[in-house]
Amino acid sequence: MVLGCGWASPFAFACREPMDPVGVSHKDTPPPASASSAVASGTPWSYATVASTWPRANPQRFVSHGHWFGRYDADVHVKGSAAEYVALGPGGKVKEGTVVAEILVERISELPGPVFAMEKTAAGWVYVETDARRNEVRRGRLEPCVTCHAQVADQDELFGVPAK
Ligand code: HEC
Repeated sequence: MVLGCGWASPFAFACREPMDPVGVSHKDTPPPASASSAVASGTPWSYATVASTWPRANPQRFVSHGHWFGRYDADVHVKGSAAEYVALGPGGKVKEGTVVAEILVERISELPGPVFAMEKTAAGWVYVETDARRNEVRRGRLEPCVTCHAQVADQDELFGVPAK
C-alpha cells in the first residue's frame, strides 16, 4: 500500500511524492526485496535498553512532524556528542559511531511507540525502524527514510530538533 500526500499520509508535512508509510509493521505485507536494502530481522535493536540513557538533544519533548504526523511525541537521544548534533549546520557532519535515536511516545495514551534511529558507519548512515517493543522492523538505506532525509543532505541528513 502506498499512501500519498493527502490527509492520511503520516508524512503530510514534507511529502512531495507518494512513498511507503513508515512506522507500520510490514509483517503481513513485506515490501518487495528490491524496494531497498531493508532487512526485517525481528531481533531486538542492539541499543534498545540504553538509548534512553544517552544525552537528550531536545530541551523539551516535541511533536514529531516528520514521522506519523502528529501521532507521536518525540525525544532524541544521541550516542556520541549531543552538543555536536544540536550545533550542526550546513556543511556539518557528525562522527562515525554516532547513533541518533528518536524515541516516540503515543501522544494520547503515552504508551511507547517505535524508535526511529540513524547509525553512522564508515559507509554513511544506516536507518533503523523498531516496533514499540524495540525489535527491529527494518534497517538499511531505507527508501522512505533516505528520500525524505535527503532534503537535509547538506547537514548530514539530519533535520535536528526544536530549540525550545
Ligand atoms: C517525510 C519525511 C521523513 C521520513 C520519510 C523520515 N523522516 Fe526521520 N525525520 C524527519 C523530520 C522532519 C525529522 C525532525 C524531527 C521530527 O519531526 O520528528 C526527523 C528526524 C529523524 C531523526 C532524528 C535525527 C535528525 O535530526 O534527523 C531520526 C533518527 C530519524 N528521523 C530517523 C528516520 C528513519 C529511521 C526513517 C525511516 C524509517 C525516517 N526518519 C523517515 C522526516 C522524515
